[in-house]
Amino acid sequence: MSLITLMPSGTTIEAAAGTTLLEAILSVDDKFTHKCDGNATCGSCHIFIQEGRKGVSKIAREENERLDMLVGVGSKSRLACQATVLGTEDIKIEMLGFDSGF
Ligand code: FES
Repeated sequence: MSLITLMPSGTTIEAAAGTTLLEAILSVDDKFTHKCDGNATCGSCHIFIQEGRKGVSKIAREENERLDMLVGVGSKSRLACQATVLGTEDIKIEMLGFDSGF
């Protein structure tokens, strides 16, 4: 289990290993944008992982290619639908509050 904290709200979620960040976020915020339903093709689920980046799965080529096309991407960027909780450490996510996707 990992404790996920969503910023700036401070909402916390307990997520089991294998859960995507998108699934975790949707469990408390059903309005979170995820236009392609988790297929790494829209980029609308872009978030920043502020803490605990080693606590999620590594970036695969498909996610990397999509991130390269988005505005405002940085070293902490992930697509919430592609990052899976490993359960090894707690995670703090910054919700970007804008739709940077297509
Ligand atoms: S929901 Fe479309 S890229 Fe994540």
